[in-house]
Amino acid sequence: MELLLRLAAVALVAAAFVAADGTGTLSPSFYDATCPGLQPAVRRGVAQAVKKEARMGASLLRLFFHDCFVQGCDASILLDDTANFTGEKSAAPNANSLRGYEVIDAIKAEVEASCKATVSCADIVALAARDAVNLLGGPSWPVLLGRRDALMTTKAAAEDSLPSPTSRLPQLLHSFSKKGLNARDLVALSGAHSVGMAHCSNFREHVYKDTKINMTYAAQLRAKVCPFVGGDDNLAPLELQKPDKFDNGFFNDVITGQVLLRTDQELLGSSGSHGTTDALVREYAANADRFAAEFAMAMIKLGNMAVQDGEVRLNCRRPN
Ligand code: HEM
Ligand SMILES: *[C@@H]1O[C@H](CO)[C@@H](O)[C@H](O)[C@H]1NC(C)=O
Ligand SMILES: *[C@@H]1O[C@H](CO)[C@@H](O)[C@H](O)[C@H]1NC(C)=O
Repeated sequence: MELLLRLAAVALVAAAFVAADGTGTLSPSFYDATCPGLQPAVRRGVAQAVKKEARMGASLLRLFFHDCFVQGCDASILLDDTANFTGEKSAAPNANSLRGYEVIDAIKAEVEASCKATVSCADIVALAARDAVNLLGGPSWPVLLGRRDALMTTKAAAEDSLPSPTSRLPQLLHSFSKKGLNARDLVALSGAHSVGMAHCSNFREHVYKDTKINMTYAAQLRAKVCPFVGGDDNLAPLELQKPDKFDNGFFNDVITGQVLLRTDQELLGSSGSHGTTDALVREYAANADRFAAEFAMAMIKLGNMAVQDGEVRLNCRRPN
């Protein structure tokens, strides 16, 4: 109950913020009159995809993060490259790595069939991320709706905004603060790495060069998954125990030095001008409910970034 009240409070604050910005009001009931079947349709689409492959839930969660961090949550990530346009999909953090585009297409087609030209792709991505987390065993929250889809984006915008897995804590804090997210949001949202996988190319440096890693764990990864040369596309789970279940186990892995990404390990034992995030890691490791509640609140905050003018795209892969 306390969690629900806190979420409601965050939703109100967030909606007021967006309205004051002059960019339109987001509201959980935005489509209640125009597309009452929307939320069940998204839930069905995500459930089907997760049933087929649990990891797709993780992929849909990451898709939302990568959408929101670049120009705001405007489905800019979904625009396909064309002969005269190169978008975010080709940017280094996304190419050969970001997934779930077909799942969004399928849900969009279903939604268009009953609510023509009504629901933005950006809102579908936001709902899909929420449902993915919940279907993997994580919390749920009210998704504020009414975003519009971008007409344009650039590959460079994605490369400038998305954090690199070789960053150090000060860079991570800086990258998040540029998006209005604080240290608490950074640590809570990093808990998304409770689910899903990463490529050897993204954790090689951590596994071979860093000293802040459990050496037993590093030795296993070196021997079995991530050779010093080659094997770039080999995959390992971001969380050891239950990579298909959204829980707070990730924070225990941080404490025992058993996370794949340098950036995740940086959340503990790093200090700088901004202080440390150690207390937050320990708090979320010890208290699953606290993590779930604060993750949900941070996701609402992430979802409220810079709603722009734009359109309701008919096909999520191209402007109308
Ligand atoms: C803090 C900065 C972050 C960095 C540097 C980062 C980096 C990465 C990297 C390198 C991967 C592996 C990609 C691959 O090898 O294919 C990954 C996977 C993932 N990330 Fe992050 N990430 C960050 C924050 C987040 C946030 C805020 C979320 C969501 C709220 C998120 C959700 C995910 C998920 C769910 C996966 C697994 C995706 C899959 O299996 O398809 N990450 N991240
Ligand atoms: C880019 O190509 C599309 C067709 O793929 C065309 O409709 C559009 O006008 C072109 N835009 C520019 C700026 O050349
Ligand atoms: C390193 O990982 C092992 C399991 O592989 C664990 O038992 C041990 O406690 C970890 N070491 C530290 C210092 O956390």
